[in-house]
Amino acid sequence: MYSFVKLFSALALLALARAFPSAPIRRDTGLGSMCSTKNFDLSKSVPADIYSALPKPNTSAPTFVALSVGVQNYTCGDAGTWTPIGAITYLYDISCIPQEEHANFTTMVSEMWAGSPRTYTADDIVAGTVASGSAAALGLHFWVTDPNNVTSGKIFGKWDFARSRESVEKNIENTYVVCSETGAQPDPINPAINSPWLAEPVLYVDGKKDGLLADQVYRFNSNGGQAPNTTCRPGYDFLQAKSTLNFWLYGGVYADTIF
Ligand SMILES: *[C@@H]1O[C@H](CO)[C@@H](O)[C@H](O)[C@H]1NC(C)=O
Ligand SMILES: *[C@@H]1O[C@H](CO)[C@@H](O)[C@H](O)[C@H]1NC(C)=O
Ligand SMILES: *[C@@H]1O[C@H](CO)[C@@H](O)[C@H](O)[C@H]1NC(C)=O
Ligand SMILES: *[C@@H]1O[C@H](CO)[C@@H](O)[C@H](O)[C@H]1NC(C)=O
Ligand SMILES: *[C@@H]1O[C@H](CO)[C@@H](O)[C@H](O)[C@H]1NC(C)=O
Repeated sequence: MYSFVKLFSALALLALARAFPSAPIRRDTGLGSMCSTKNFDLSKSVPADIYSALPKPNTSAPTFVALSVGVQNYTCGDAGTWTPIGAITYLYDISCIPQEEHANFTTMVSEMWAGSPRTYTADDIVAGTVASGSAAALGLHFWVTDPNNVTSGKIFGKWDFARSRESVEKNIENTYVVCSETGAQPDPINPAINSPWLAEPVLYVDGKKDGLLADQVYRFNSNGGQAPNTTCRPGYDFLQAKSTLNFWLYGGVYADTIF
């Protein structure tokens, strides 16, 4: 079987996880996680040395726990080395999977994604997920130009659930968040290949939060995402590194749905 078929089956299973009786389930009232997140504890998933080096979550339980599957894009910078310019990944609700399984589940999905043919792209993952209408489909992750200064050359991560919530959420600001970065630690397993682990607080624009979906996002359990340590031709070469990891979103307007 092609790995992308397996990949899609694994992602489709996330929605079926609602059928498992082990965890209480509530997505029907709308906008929170499919399964309970109140006992999820970041300090149990992040090694103590990394956890102590990152700013802490301000609330005890995450509002959303997501698997992110897609690519990190790179262009060739002036120095002839790879420069990150953004990403496109799809985000899946993994709240119905026990926390202790998240790291291995994420690695399993990353292996299926790695084994998929070159012709099967991140855009195909997005299109296939949207078409499936899966209950586990949360939304997109990508990067946007610095909202405070378009000429700064900086980019900021955005998590955007607008598409999956358009029928139930009328306030667009509730469906996304743009974050900055206040903590970065090298991946503990293979930092040359796997993206750094991050603490990302909501970005303020003109004194206002840039989106109300969350107040803090944590990125960890990275599989891939780093560019290879090779030289490249400035202004010419482009590269995509497959990336599969976890994001936990804390706070935000749906924090009162935590159960
Ligand atoms: C990154 O790659 C994806 C997938 O090909 C594409 O949809 C997206 O526009 C790219 N983003 C940037 C900033 O290059
Ligand atoms: C995750 O995978 C590792 C390596 O295969 C294994 O040692 C570990 O027991 C697994 N953890 C869980 C919770 O299944
Ligand atoms: C925006 O960024 C550019 C490039 O770094 C800088 O020269 C400029 O001063 C910045 N503008 C503001 C308003 O911060
Ligand atoms: C988290 O709490 C600290 C201390 O109260 C505060 O300084 C910080 O702004 C809060 N972060 C977010 C993203 O709400
Ligand atoms: C990248 O490769 C160069 C040349 O082989 C080496 O000097 C450098 O230490 C490498 N950097 C990393 C981060 O591995």
